[in-house]
Amino acid sequence: MKRIVILISGHGSNMQALLEAKLPCQVVAVISNRSDAQGLKIARAHHVTTAVVSHRDFAERESFDAALSKEIDSFQPDLVVLAGFMRILTNGFVEHYAGRLINIHPSLLPAYAGVNTHERALRDGVKIHGCTVHFVTSDLDNGPIIIQAAVPVLINDSPASLAARVLHEEHRVLQQAVRWLCNKQLWLDELGRIASDHFEQVGATLISPGLD
Ligand code: GRF
Repeated sequence: MKRIVILISGHGSNMQALLEAKLPCQVVAVISNRSDAQGLKIARAHHVTTAVVSHRDFAERESFDAALSKEIDSFQPDLVVLAGFMRILTNGFVEHYAGRLINIHPSLLPAYAGVNTHERALRDGVKIHGCTVHFVTSDLDNGPIIIQAAVPVLINDSPASLAARVLHEEHRVLQQAVRWLCNKQLWLDELGRIASDHFEQVGATLISPGLD
């Protein structure tokens, strides 16, 4: 059974969705860079081992990443999932986990890479927004895309209401991505492209605002 380590920084709702999804894999640890991350309590309540590697204890990014990597490797993961993990990782760290490091990002990448995605989407007046699960590469928020979900932006949306609508879909697509990876139904080929032997191609079209 594949071993998974989940990295969090805050609420951990994406981590919780994975723990409750009865995935064909074993979550062997939840690690946070913040000792006050709410998600640590949720992980403990699910009897999952937790650890904290605080970025505040390290003078620079490289030494933090080295300590984080050492902690992660002590659990011998097959897959590392960034689930609301709010640190930018060094190239050395990313290369060490190449092909087995994924992230959930709250936008339809490549649109709105970076932070404050919902505010930026609203400011631009886009009518469709969403989330993306992707492999992590040294190119921030720009690795091979595994799965995406699109949601309508509603006329009276605030960043909070839009974020909530996106977050609901994050929970759905992150567990789907992990399930495909655990079942070896999806992988990165030798050229670093997404490969799969299993895709339910759906024809659903999202038009926003809706047609009359
Ligand atoms: C989510 O929108 C995630 O995409 C972003 O942080 C938010 C909170 O995630 N990185 P979680 O509740 O901590 O999983």
